[in-house]
This record gives sequence, C-alpha cells and structure tokens, in this order.
Amino acid sequence: MEYNKQRTMLIVMLIIIMWSCCYSHAQLSSDFYKESCPSLFYVVRREVQRAVTRERRMAASLLRLFFHDCFVNLDGPGWSVKLGRRDSTTASFTTANSGVIPPPTSTLDNLINRFRAQGLSSRDMVALSGAHTIGQARCVTFRDRIYNESNNIELSFALSRQRSCSAASGSSDNNEATLDIHSPGRFDLNYYRQLLNHRGLLTSDQVLYSGGSTDSLVVSYSRSLNAFYRDFVRGMVKMGDIKPLTGSNGEIRNNCRRPN
Ligand code: HEM
Repeated sequence: MEYNKQRTMLIVMLIIIMWSCCYSHAQLSSDFYKESCPSLFYVVRREVQRAVTRERRMAASLLRLFFHDCFVNLDGPGWSVKLGRRDSTTASFTTANSGVIPPPTSTLDNLINRFRAQGLSSRDMVALSGAHTIGQARCVTFRDRIYNESNNIELSFALSRQRSCSAASGSSDNNEATLDIHSPGRFDLNYYRQLLNHRGLLTSDQVLYSGGSTDSLVVSYSRSLNAFYRDFVRGMVKMGDIKPLTGSNGEIRNNCRRPN
C-alpha cells in the first residue's frame, strides 16, 4: 500500500512535467498553471492513481521516458516540478539513436561524457542511474554481460539471469529481468548494494562500481537513502532544465506522438 503511494507520487510528478505544454510563458516554473488550471495536481494525481492500480509498471515506464525525452528533446522522492515545457516540432528516431542516449554497453568514460554533454555531472549520472532500482530490461540489453565472466559479474547472479536469457539471440531476446534483483518494486538503496556485490544487470550499471572514479558515490548511496534521494532529485530537476522549449518556441502537440 505504502509502496503504491510512493509510486503514485513519483508518477504524478513525472506526468505533470510531461503534460506541461498547454500555455506559453517564457520560463518553466512550479506555479505555471496556478491561474489557468488550479486543479492540475489533483486531476493528474487521481488519473495516475488509476493508471498505477491498473498497471504497476507504469512508474518505471514514465521515469525512463522522462530521461529519454529530456536528453533528446523530445513518496518517491518528491520535488517541486517546473512546469511550462512545450513540445518539439520535430521527432526523429535517428536523432534519438544518434549517440545522445548512452547504450547499455557503455564504458564509464562514455557515460560520464554523454551526461556531461547535457550539462550533468558524474554525481548526477550515478544518482540518476539509481532509477534502475525499479523496472526491467530485455535480454538483448544484458546478454553480453551475463555470458562473459570477465565482466565483473557475480557467478550465481549470472547463472540465474541466464535461465531466461539464452546465449544465442532468438526467442528469449525480449524476455525481461528486473534491473534490481533484490527489491525491484521499491525505490530504495538496493540498486547500489547490488552493484557492490557485482550484481548490476547492465554493463552500464556495473561500470559505476568497477574500480573507477564513481566507486565512492556508489558506496555512499548504498549507505544513505537521504544522500541518494537528495542527489536523485537534484539530477531530475537538472534533467528537466535541459534545453526546455518555452514561450513561443516549440508547439503544443495535438497528438503527443507526433509534431502537428
Ligand atoms: C546511465 C545511462 C543509462 C543507460 C545506459 C540506461 C539503459 C537502460 C536500458 C537498456 C533499459 C532497458 C530497456 C529495454 O530493455 O528496453 C533501461 C530501463 C530503465 N531505465 Fe535506464 N538507462 C540509463 C539511465 C537512466 C536514467 C537517467 C533513468 C531515469 C532517471 C532511467 C530509467 C530507467 C527505468 C525506470 C527503466 C525501466 C523501464 C521499464 O521497466 O519499463 N535510466 N535503461
């Protein structure tokens, strides 16, 4: 029950961010709809509660969408969400796959560089990766990691993941596994604790704790929920500030999936 409440709060924040495209002002602000739509929070919260009751995975899907959308322009921790973001007049599958979003096979340097290119620090990157405390990934995204012992992976973890993800590509490609094997339904510290045990599912997860410059951050988040939430929220706010379209820039889409 408590968990459902947490997820709902998190999703409410995210939906509001993504839904904030109806009126044009010059800047993002948390009271953007104070006059034009004062019941916004109530309405969104109610609808999200319904959606989560129908499908719990919704939280993970929306959180991931926020990351992708911010990078390519397209009582969980809570924060004051800045509203007023408008939609892009372009949408390109090629751009979305053109090296902005890091792949799951990324090295640590690659992750650091891609986040830096968006104005985000290593600290932001490690804290935001903690979103992988919920949600799932498909076999195709972690196959290489679980079949290669030199990949800094704990053996029993690799074996357990191999059961539903065969070495050769084929029918198991889309089988999913939880990103946090310990408590996939909770927005907690266990993503980082699993990294300490070499049980990160994606290569891009485990590289955060593999003898490099971000090891100490992983250790500190594995010990302090406050530190993780504080930096996660900072990172989410910073991500929301990446090149927002406001004022007369961009548009308000009639159909969210494509430019007018
Ligand atoms: C650090 C670089 C990152 C990489 C390489 C990465 C990669 C991935 C991959 C490969 C998946 C599985 C996708 C699939 O199987 O279709 C995934 C899932 C997910 N990612 Fe990330 N991600 C990163 C950062 C983030 C960030 C910053 C967030 C949000 C703040 C995020 C939130 C999520 C969530 C919630 C899921 C689960 C989605 C679901 O269950 O539907 N990721 N990520």
